[in-house]
Amino acid sequence: MTPAEQGTSRLTRVPGVLYGGDYNPEQWPEDVWAEDAKLMREAGVTMVTVGVFSWARLQPGPDTWDFPWFDRLLDLLHAHGVAVDLATATASPPAWLVRAHPEILPVTADGVRLEFGSRQHYCPSSPAYRAAALRLTRTLAARYADHPALALWHIHNEYGDHVTECFCPRSADHFRIWLTHRYETIDALNHAWGTAFWSQRYGTYDEIEPPRTVPGPVNPTQLLDWRRFCSDVLLECHRAEREVLKELSPDIPATTNFMSMFKALDYWKWAEHEDLVSDDAYPDPADPRAHVNAALNYDLMRSLKGGRPWLLLEQAPSAVSWRPVNVPKKPGVQRLWSLQALARGADGIMYFQWRASRAGAEKYHSALLPHRGTASRGWQETVRFGAELARLGEVTGTTTPADVAIVLDWDSWWALESDDHPSARMRWRDLLHPWYAALHARGVTTDFVPPHADLTGYRAVLAPNLHLLRPEHAARITAYVQGGGHLVCGPFSGVVDGHDHIHDGGAPGPLRDVLGVGVDEFWPVPDGQAVRLTSGAEATLWTEWTETEGPETEIVDTYASGELTGRPAVTRHPHGTGTAWYVSAHLGDGIGPVLDDALRAAGVRPVLDVPEGVEATVRTGEPGTYLFVLNHSDHDTRTPLTGAFAAGGTDLLTGAAVHGHLALGPLGAAVLRIATDSPGENQK
Ligand code: GLA
Repeated sequence: MTPAEQGTSRLTRVPGVLYGGDYNPEQWPEDVWAEDAKLMREAGVTMVTVGVFSWARLQPGPDTWDFPWFDRLLDLLHAHGVAVDLATATASPPAWLVRAHPEILPVTADGVRLEFGSRQHYCPSSPAYRAAALRLTRTLAARYADHPALALWHIHNEYGDHVTECFCPRSADHFRIWLTHRYETIDALNHAWGTAFWSQRYGTYDEIEPPRTVPGPVNPTQLLDWRRFCSDVLLECHRAEREVLKELSPDIPATTNFMSMFKALDYWKWAEHEDLVSDDAYPDPADPRAHVNAALNYDLMRSLKGGRPWLLLEQAPSAVSWRPVNVPKKPGVQRLWSLQALARGADGIMYFQWRASRAGAEKYHSALLPHRGTASRGWQETVRFGAELARLGEVTGTTTPADVAIVLDWDSWWALESDDHPSARMRWRDLLHPWYAALHARGVTTDFVPPHADLTGYRAVLAPNLHLLRPEHAARITAYVQGGGHLVCGPFSGVVDGHDHIHDGGAPGPLRDVLGVGVDEFWPVPDGQAVRLTSGAEATLWTEWTETEGPETEIVDTYASGELTGRPAVTRHPHGTGTAWYVSAHLGDGIGPVLDDALRAAGVRPVLDVPEGVEATVRTGEPGTYLFVLNHSDHDTRTPLTGAFAAGGTDLLTGAAVHGHLALGPLGAAVLRIATDSPGENQK
């Protein structure tokens, strides 16, 4: 048995860690394909994504289809042992279709119709677009459902990329229908939208329009519902394609590629309609902390389906082409960052794209096979890494345990970033990032959970911000603490309900009892200024005038400069058999000591004590336990193997036995199969 055959990926029937990328053969003469297939084999590629932008080629006219070239392509790939992730090709409607149905083109909030000439130029509510997309999906599914190369269906491509909303008349109609399902009566809508304000009352649903460009601030609940609608309407398109695939090709899993933590789509809802979660991730090599943000996104992808393995479907082998400055990945970075995805639960590592394009908007985007061909540094890395991945097949199907969860709610994110708030600086990602980074620096693996999640399995739950909080979700969080859980809640939380109305009595609304505090007034910090805390921490962006409520609330830290001097900044409150912390300020990186207090109380330990710049995570299950240790720094590191890892193990990347400590050079990595008590039992 080859090492790649040792593990069977649970994502698809293809064994081992999936390895490959987007393949766009329509950009090349057919004689190049044979070379591609041969080189894929040489690189250890096991699956490629084809057809993503092939609509115009597969269906050159309304009733003309051209499949023979695609048949030959799939046969060729199959003959070379390369499986296919087959796209439904619906993300880029052909010119003939948009000329026949110009209403397919999306319209901006200002009424500008976006022209043909790029991609993703469709209105998701357009019946003509939907009918054509479903016809294409059906035709592809009928033709290829039984093709032996087919391993995965790739629905559409990056829903919401470029165009997240359309304001055309058809979208407006669709929005009204969506609203009638949500509210039924116009009175209910008027109440929810607070239309008593500024004379915005509606007499009938026909009077409602999407939140187009308006003279002043737009109704915030109208905008919140619009965001919900835009996520739902794209999901409708996705579900319609998926249903066709499930009807004609029920045995093949289907996925659509998510875009990491993406504001426009509520991925909790979306993930319910995925057989497996897949992600496109493009950390910026110019950002020294890119790996921390990548870890965050990978943890989210793992969490979207309750910890099940996921697929990194796209990343750049080196530079992208769409940032103002596109810095390449220095040697070793693409390997390290790919192993990072695996370390956080991925069972496949794929790229955009296989062969670098010679024409088009992405001709400067890196590829597994760069313009310089097999002589290039990139190609050598492609081949080397393929060989390494082939040794890691046994980790597939194992899962990544986490003791800590961060609550993420798209509704709350949308409401938080509405206009006309006390401060426009309170952005979800900025609030989340320092909390996540503190956990990452401490070697604590973190899940994400939706606000309706069962929290009981977690030692600690963090809510960096829950601006919008429904009473039923607050009740779950409260019950979690009551039953012995540890909660840390960040500022500007529990402010509004599901309609974006301020909770009775103000913040933290339904969390008042569990937190033991009341917020008297928000006190945002002007740009460029900071407020000192007694502990030495500094608040930027945001502070609050809070009052403890009840004798049990302990003041952990106080404001030490400015108007709020002497007032509570951080509090701790026992509730039931658990404890809840409230952090009323944006502390940035200063959040660390507060989290330390909570993690200590909750008994959360790092996976392994690691030197700075080193990341350690564990995957466990059948057939074993695997410790991933990744050195993101540019110096040599030495990580002692202690605790559960004291017995050492075998580094799957090198085959070497490792005991006592692990020495890693700059950008080095190890994947240790942890030895069991009876030595040799779990060894190769
Ligand atoms: C996205 C798209 C790809 C390609 C890459 C470039 O992930 O899905 O088609 O445009 O970006 O980085």
